[in-house]
Formats: sequence, structure tokens, C-alpha cells
Amino acid sequence: MTVIFVPKEIRSGETRVAATPETVGRMVKDGLTVRIEAGAGISACMPDEDYQAAGADILPAGSACPADTQVLLKVATPTCTEISTYPKDVLLVSFLRAGEFPEETAAITRSGIHAWAMECVPRTTLAQKMDALSSQANIAGYKAVLLGATTLGKYFPLLMTAAGTVKPAKVVIFGVGVAGLQAIATAKRLGALVEATDIRPEVKEQVESLGAKFIDVAPDEGAEEESVYAAEASDDYKKRQAEAVAAKVAEADVVITTAQIPGRKAPLLIPTSMVETMKLGSVIVDLAIEQGGNCELSQEGVNVRHNGVTIVGTSNIPATVPVHASELYSRNLLEVVKHVFPKVEEGQERRRILDLENEITAGSLHKTGDDS
Ligand code: NAI
Repeated sequence: MTVIFVPKEIRSGETRVAATPETVGRMVKDGLTVRIEAGAGISACMPDEDYQAAGADILPAGSACPADTQVLLKVATPTCTEISTYPKDVLLVSFLRAGEFPEETAAITRSGIHAWAMECVPRTTLAQKMDALSSQANIAGYKAVLLGATTLGKYFPLLMTAAGTVKPAKVVIFGVGVAGLQAIATAKRLGALVEATDIRPEVKEQVESLGAKFIDVAPDEGAEEESVYAAEASDDYKKRQAEAVAAKVAEADVVITTAQIPGRKAPLLIPTSMVETMKLGSVIVDLAIEQGGNCELSQEGVNVRHNGVTIVGTSNIPATVPVHASELYSRNLLEVVKHVFPKVEEGQERRRILDLENEITAGSLHKTGDDS
């Protein structure tokens, strides 16, 4: 019997769940036994009865991961206490975020379990359906705009009314990856004037195709062109960037920052001195807050007011859209499950295969020294 276990997430504010009745149904159809801790999906509006109807066994709330579990599906990095209850041979599939959770990462290494880090899945065409960074960043980009719009004491669109004309809001977006592109599209749909900047000049075309303006910053001489991921910007680049955006930020109603560098602390793009040039009532939404923040004044969990500017402190933004965030994330996980339990002849049982010759598996597995 091949067993998958899905516990209820226990980290504060984590409302997502790693499997939905839809993905459970697909796994059960593939011959896998799925066990769900009671209440696992309730914060994402997915009741136990729906999982049961899809073929899952519901375990009592508080159940530890059963000893015969082969794959444990999770959203947030497990706590050290959770890790201490995991059976030795289990494959944990979850966000691990080693940089933010060094103690938990060390506990995983010590425990000898296999751990698949969703943030490490290679961003190749073959692994596209497993790309949870993108599925969740898309949600974060969308919701960041809504948070900005509801915190701002103004309309977003241009309105011509009998009582007079309302000017459209100005939105500036730092970082045009998956989250930034979705933020541009959402802010445009709400009617704002949008400008965006990124260290990668090749995204200019994408920005313009969404109807926004690209804020050009001359790249460093000899900088690699067309690289998909950002490298750390030079001090010289940061200076030119600050000059290019200074006037835009000073005029902005909402600034959304999404700039990140894989595996490093987020770059500081909005120092306090820049916040102090902003208009009374303007808003900053910092999507890099968990990676140290793009704004010097960002504080996780607190909306900071500085000189009349609000810096929104909401972290783990995808968890504020738990239904769709769970639906998309659980489909990413389903692809991982299909990958590690390849198809077999009819009548045979699927076996878990962790093939380190496989690029996706090798890139995603946390190196415990035991994955051979
Ligand atoms: P990310 O979350 O690592 O960073 C967000 C954005 O911030 C990036 O566009 C980055 O260039 C920018 N940035 C970093 N430092 C900056 C600075 N100092 N100033 C301004 N901007 C800065 O990026 P994400 O969203 O994970 O995507 C990165 C790229 O990978 C995008 O082009 C995306 O389309 C691409 N991608 C490719 C995939 C594939 O090939 N399967 C899948 C997903 C994304």
C-alpha cells in the first residue's frame, strides 16, 4: 500500500492546505492511499466530507504522520516538533526555505528523512507544472495590488463624474518577475497608471505589452544579457536606479516591491530617506518582506506609518487567498507525486523512485547525505 499523508498546517497564519478534494481524487484514482488529518482543509473552505467523498481516509485531529507513510505533503516549513514525529523513510514535499528556517533545516538533515523543497524545483519547461514559486507569486502579485488599493484613501481609476474628475492613481512596481507582472496586470485592470522597473532590461517589452511604462536604468557595463534570474546589483547600479525612480516614487500613490534574488536577502530598494519623499497617504506593499524586505521600514505583521506613508506588513500573502492558493499549490504537488511514483503496468503497485540522475529530483531534494 502506498500511503500519502496530508496534515493540518500549524504555523500561525498558514491557511493553505497541501491537497484538495480534486487532487486527492486524482491520487486515489492512481492507486495511492491518501490520509488527511481532520480539519486540514477547513481554512481553505475544504471540509473533511469532501475529502472523504474523494476517497481519502480522515485521521483524527492531532494525529502524527503514520509510520507507513511514503509521502508527506505540506505547505509551510515544518516545525522542529513536527519533524521529530516523522517516520525515517518518509519523503516530505513542502516549501523548506532553508535560508529563513536554519534550525528546521538542520533538524531535517539530522532526521535523515528525504525532503523535497518546492522552492528548489528547477524552472525548466519539464518542471513547469510543479512550479509552486510561480503559482504562489502570481497570487501575491494580485493581492498586493488589492491591499494597496484598500489601504489607499483614493480611487484607482480615472473617473469623470458630475461632481468632478478624479485622476487615476499612480502605481510604481519594483521587480517584474511573476509577482510583478501580475501586479502590473491587476493595477492596470483597476485603472491605475503603472510604471515598473527591473534589473533585467529584457522585461521592458513585457511591461509595455501590459500597458505599463518601463523605468529604464542603464545596466552595468558587461552585465549578462537575457539571464532569467537576477544577480545582486552593483552599488553603482543601485545608485543609478535610485536616481531613476526617485521622482516616480515621490509622485506615487502606491509602490509595490517584489524584487528578490534567489537564495539571498532581498535587495534594499526603498530606504527611509526615499519613504520620506513620498506623498501623505501613499502606501508601500513589500512582497519581499519575508526575505528581509525591499523597504527599510517594512515590519512583518505590522502596518508601519512613517511621515504619513503606510508600509503594509502583511506577510505570507498567498495564505490570504487560501482557496485558490491551495488549489494551485496542490496541483503543483500532484505533479511531484506523479513524478516520484511513475506509472506502472496495470495491476502493479506504484513504487516511489527518487532518481538522483533525474534533473528535477536532484535539483529539488534537500541534501541530507542519505539520498542516494
Ligand atoms: P524573483 O521572485 O526571484 O524576483 C522578482 C523580480 O525582481 C525579478 O524579475 C528580478 O529580476 C527582480 N529584481 C531583483 N533585484 C532587483 C533590483 N535590485 N531592482 C529591481 N528588480 C530586481 O523572480 P521570479 O518571479 O521568480 O521570476 C524570475 C524570472 O524567471 C522571470 O523572468 C520569470 O518570468 C522567469 N520564470 C521562468 C520560469 C520557467 O522558465 N519555467 C518559471 C517562472 C519564472
